[in-house]
Amino acid sequence: MTSSNQRKILVTSALPYANGDIHIGHLLEYVQTDIWVRFQKSRGHNCYYVCADDTHGTPVMLRAQKEGKTPEDFIAEQQANHERDFAGALIEFDNFYSTHSPESKELTQGIYLKLKEQGHISSKTINQLFDPEKQMFLPDRFVKGTCPKCDSEDQYGDNCDNCGATYNPTDLKNPKSAVSGATPILKESEHFFFDLKGFEGFLREWLSSDDHVQSEVQNKMNEWLDDLRQWDISRDAPYFGWEIPGEEGKYFYVWLDAPIGYMASFKNLCDKTEGLEFDDFWNKDSDAEVYHFIGKDIIYFHTLFWPCVLEGSGYRTPTAVWAHGFVTVNGQKMSKSKGTFIKAKTYLEHLNPEYLRYYYAAKLSNKIDDFDLNLEDFAQRVNTDLVNKLVNIASRCSGFITKQFDSKLSGVISEPQLLQEFLGASDSIAELYENREFGKAIKQIMALADKANVYIAEKEPWKLVKNEATKEEAHQVCSLGLNLFKVLVTYLAPVLPKLAEKTQVFLSLENINWASAQEILTDYEINKFKPMLQRIEMKSVNAMVEASKEDLEAEAEKKPVVELSDPIKKEIQFGDFDKIDLRIAKIAKAEHVEGADKLLKLQLDLGEGVTKQVFAGIKSAYAPEDLQGKLTVMVANLAPRKMKFGMSEGMVLAAGPGGKDLWILNPEDGARPGMRVK
Ligand code: 2FM
Ligand code: ZN
Repeated sequence: MTSSNQRKILVTSALPYANGDIHIGHLLEYVQTDIWVRFQKSRGHNCYYVCADDTHGTPVMLRAQKEGKTPEDFIAEQQANHERDFAGALIEFDNFYSTHSPESKELTQGIYLKLKEQGHISSKTINQLFDPEKQMFLPDRFVKGTCPKCDSEDQYGDNCDNCGATYNPTDLKNPKSAVSGATPILKESEHFFFDLKGFEGFLREWLSSDDHVQSEVQNKMNEWLDDLRQWDISRDAPYFGWEIPGEEGKYFYVWLDAPIGYMASFKNLCDKTEGLEFDDFWNKDSDAEVYHFIGKDIIYFHTLFWPCVLEGSGYRTPTAVWAHGFVTVNGQKMSKSKGTFIKAKTYLEHLNPEYLRYYYAAKLSNKIDDFDLNLEDFAQRVNTDLVNKLVNIASRCSGFITKQFDSKLSGVISEPQLLQEFLGASDSIAELYENREFGKAIKQIMALADKANVYIAEKEPWKLVKNEATKEEAHQVCSLGLNLFKVLVTYLAPVLPKLAEKTQVFLSLENINWASAQEILTDYEINKFKPMLQRIEMKSVNAMVEASKEDLEAEAEKKPVVELSDPIKKEIQFGDFDKIDLRIAKIAKAEHVEGADKLLKLQLDLGEGVTKQVFAGIKSAYAPEDLQGKLTVMVANLAPRKMKFGMSEGMVLAAGPGGKDLWILNPEDGARPGMRVK
C-alpha cells in the first residue's frame, strides 16, 4: 500500500468499569471493535486500538474498602483479570491501560484548566444527601427509600423500578444510606459545572454533519439538544479520582475522566512507540480518524459531553461514535439464576473464543438493535458454518494432496472462473467490513463456502483419485479446493484470527492479509493438515450454564453489607407471614460437616424435649465452639429438606451478606428456648 492511501486510525472500545468482571455482553463490543481493527490492519492501514480500565468513582472506593484493600491494589487486580479475559477472547489491543495513570491525571487536569480558562466552568452551591455515619455525600444509587409516587419500598434514589418514576434522591420517602443504613441528612456543598448549553450551536452542527453518529442516534440526540443543562463534573471527598486543581477536597466526577482515558491510553502507547505522535491524532487539525465503539447505554456521554469537552479544550473531535445494541441470551436479559449471566472467564473455561466471535459477527450490523444469543442456535450455526462448511473444505482436500501427490498442489487451476469469483468478492466484502456490516459479510463469505463445497461434492475427487486416468483431475480439484479455502480464511481472518494462524502454518504462508488473498498457490508444497476446530458439544454449553449458576453462589458471598441490587421479594399477606413459626432455639451442639465448605451441623433445642437438626451456612462467620450454648431465632416449621449431608429440619436466621459478615440473631435477654418470636 502506498502511503497516500494509508489511513491513520485510532479506535477505542468503552472502558470497562474496574469494579466488575467482563461478561459475554461486554465481549460483544470488544469483539466488534477487534474485528474492525483487525480488518483495517489487514488492509495495511496504520490502525491503533486502545482501551483502559475505568477505575474511578464511589463504587470502586467502597468495594476496595469492603475487601480491605487500597483502591490501587483493588484496581490492579481487576485490571489483571480484565486483561486475562480479553486475551482469552483474542481481543488484541495495542494498549490496555488505566484511568488511574499519570497521563490521565495530566490530561484531565489540563483539559479542565483549559475549559475554565475559556469560561466554560462555573460553580454553585447545591444541597445533597450526606451520610452522617460514613461522612460522605451519597450518589443517587447509594440512597434507597420509598418511591414518592407509588410508595413502593426499597427504591433507588434516582428512579423507581416499580412505577418507572424518575426523581431526585431528596424526594424519596424514608431515605436510607445504602452504605451504612443511616438516615441521610441534607448538606450544602460547592459543585463545579461544565456549561453544555454554551455548545448547543457546535453540537447541532456536529451531530448533523459527516455521519458523526448513526441516524437512529441522531434522532435521539435532537430531542436531548432541546434540553441541554449544566453538567455537574465535581464530587466531594472522600472520592477515588483526580483532585480538581486549586479546589481542595473536590474531585472530578468519574465520567469526566473516563473518556479522557482513551487519550491517556493512546498517550502512553505513543511514549512507548517510536514515531507515533500523540499530537498527530489529537490536534485540532489532525488528519487522523478517531472512532469510539460504545454500547447504546452511554451514547449521551459520548455524543454530547465528550465532543464538547474536546471542542472546548482545543482538541479535535471524534470522526464518529458507533453504538451497538445489547445481547439477550435465549431470548431474555442475561439472568444470574438461569445461568445465562456468563462471565468471559466461565465462557473461556468451556468454549473456544472463536465460536463466540463468529456468532457475534454473523449477528452484527451497523445498527443499534439488540440481538439474541440463543445457545442452541449458537452451537448449530457454528458447527454448520465453520466445521461442516469451512474447515471441511480443507480436511476433505488435504488428505489426497498429502498422500497421493507428495504434499504438492497442482500447477493447473482447472476452474479459473470459480477461483475468480472468490477473488473478485474481495471489494464488496471489504466494503461490508468497513461499514460494520459484519453479518452481511459473513453471509457473503458463507455463500462462497457453499459453492466450494458444491464444486467438490460434484467432482467427487475421492472417486477420481482411484483411477489412474482421472487421478490428475482429482489433484486439480483438491488443489483448487485448498486455494478456495485460503481465500475464505483470509476473508474471515479478522473474525477468526487463530484459525487464520493455523491456516498460515498448514499452507506455509508468509502472512495472511487482505491483499495476500489474491495470491494463488500452484506447484506449491503444503504441510500436513491438523484438525483446526472442534464441533461445539451441547454438553459443554450446558456445563458453562451450570458453572454460571455456581458463579452466582460465589458472587453472593462477596456482596456488600447492604445489598444494593437485591430487590425486596414480592409482597406477602399477613396470612403468609403468620404461617412462619419463629422460635427461640438454643444451639445445643454445633459441629463441622465433613466435605462441606460452608455448612455447620446444629442441634437446636426448642425446649420441652423438642430438638431439631439444621444445616446452616454460617461456617465462614462462626466456629462451632462459639455457637454452642448460644440462643438464636429459627424458623421452626419449615418442611424438612434432604440435603447432601442429611436432613435439615428448619432454618436459622442470620443477617448479613455472607462470609465473615454474618450474624445470628442473639436475643439473650430473658429468652428461653421454644419462645415464640413476634
Ligand atoms: O459504562 C461503562 O461501563 C463505562 N465504564 C464506560 C466508560 S467509556 C469511556 F468514556 F471511558
Ligand atoms: Zn414508584
